[in-house]
Amino acid sequence: KNEAGIRPQRLEDYIGQKDLKEVLKIAIAAAKSRSEAMDHLLLYGPPGLGKTTMSLILATEMGVNCKITAAPALERPRDITGILINLKPGDILFIDEIHRLNRMTEELLYPAMEDCRLDVTIGKGQTARTRSIPLPPFTLVGATTKVGSLTSPLRDRFGLIQRLRFYELDELTLIVQRTADLLKVTVTQEGAEEIARRARGTPRIANRLLRRVRDYAQVKKFEEIDRALAATALDLFNVDAMGLDWTDRLVLSAMIENFKGGPVGLEAVAAATGEDAKTIEEVYEPYLLQIGFLNRTPRGRVATEAAYKHLGFFPFSGNA
Ligand code: ADE
Repeated sequence: KNEAGIRPQRLEDYIGQKDLKEVLKIAIAAAKSRSEAMDHLLLYGPPGLGKTTMSLILATEMGVNCKITAAPALERPRDITGILINLKPGDILFIDEIHRLNRMTEELLYPAMEDCRLDVTIGKGQTARTRSIPLPPFTLVGATTKVGSLTSPLRDRFGLIQRLRFYELDELTLIVQRTADLLKVTVTQEGAEEIARRARGTPRIANRLLRRVRDYAQVKKFEEIDRALAATALDLFNVDAMGLDWTDRLVLSAMIENFKGGPVGLEAVAAATGEDAKTIEEVYEPYLLQIGFLNRTPRGRVATEAAYKHLGFFPFSGNA
């Protein structure tokens, strides 16, 4: 089974994000009873928490299609107009990384979101004229890791703005067990919990780790995945007891070894590690912040005492 095969398809099968589910249940029921498209929805939060999955679930619950795209694929005006014109009434348009839309595309979305209208320019220069094309009512679901990077006109056009949070250990354990069932592998409760503990609060990572442990168990001819097997396999794959991978540890140790633990600017960390600054900020930092290994201060990033201890740097002499 690929990633699509293990995604939950109904709201009742979606584990975690309790508040979000409650809000969406109301929005779905209200829209259905009025036979309208659901309000535009902005989902934000770290990657891998289920924004795309939730959008697909909404489409299933509403009985409509979901067209999935991402801002980098909407470079030319005709990319977005082509999609909008082909929507059917009530359809969901999911745009990932919506904070990266260019200005022209974004401005085409404003009247589309507000008045179901597409304003296109025909011709060039002196003879150019604009024409309005009516669109069917639709729901835009925008997803972003950086809600602060959205322009306010775009943000203001979403009726619902919802944050996805990191998952609790018990929720992730259930997700590991659910995926294990779908993949037809046997995992003990403690085995599932060990995988969940190392998944950085993120279902996508939990499911990825489960596949690695499954490979290991299969090759080593183990019948079931218990705690010890999960731990041994994940150690081998360089996922440590806190779930930090090679890059997480590189980022922290670069801060500690090259910059005395900070404060240090994002660009300097990027240069010292050879990682992309945006990737560090959007993919690696959120969980390091969440577990208290990293702080953001006005003067830059700081590695905390907990990070020093976890990575075996000693002594911690305090910083910033
Ligand atoms: N697989 C990935 N994310 C999930 C979730 N939130 N609930 C159930 N299964 C999942």
